[in-house]
Amino acid sequence: MSNLFAPIQVGAFDLGHRVVLAPLTRMRAEMPGNIPGPAMVEYYSQRASQGGLLITEATFISRQGNGGYASPGIEDDAQAKGWRPVVDAVHAKGAKLVLQLWHVGRSSHSTLQPGGGQPVARSKAAPGR
Ligand SMILES: Cc1cc2nc3c(=O)[nH]c(=O)nc-3n(C[C@H](O)[C@H](O)[C@H](O)COP(=O)(O)O)c2cc1C
Repeated sequence: MSNLFAPIQVGAFDLGHRVVLAPLTRMRAEMPGNIPGPAMVEYYSQRASQGGLLITEATFISRQGNGGYASPGIEDDAQAKGWRPVVDAVHAKGAKLVLQLWHVGRSSHSTLQPGGGQPVARSKAAPGR
């Protein structure tokens, strides 16, 4: 009989248990720059355990795809570098980390856009709308 503490294979990962961290937007990146910093290292490290799997908060892949203040990105070198200590801290505890990527599209806001522009809009109206 399986239980939360039984090993399981999930895709490429051999997990030691089934207590997985769901993606949770925390908005703890360093500002300005939306760069993962010490608060995020602490947050993910606290939730990592031997054989575990953590899915990160949604992380924007383009500046226009940012959906919230202090939401982390991975669209420039400083952000990518900021993730390294997060990954290292999680790996040091024997867990895996999967980065959830997003682009929020038109649900962004002009205050988050480069130059205060409008968020990207859908390029074509869906049929019947
Ligand atoms: C504060 C908060 C932030 C969240 N951020 C994300 C996120 O960044 N990406 C995502 O896919 N889901 C996000 N979720 C959804 C959670 O992953 C989801 O609530 C969790 O998996 C439990 O599922 P349930 O709400 O259907 O019970 C968020 C939920 C909350 C409450």
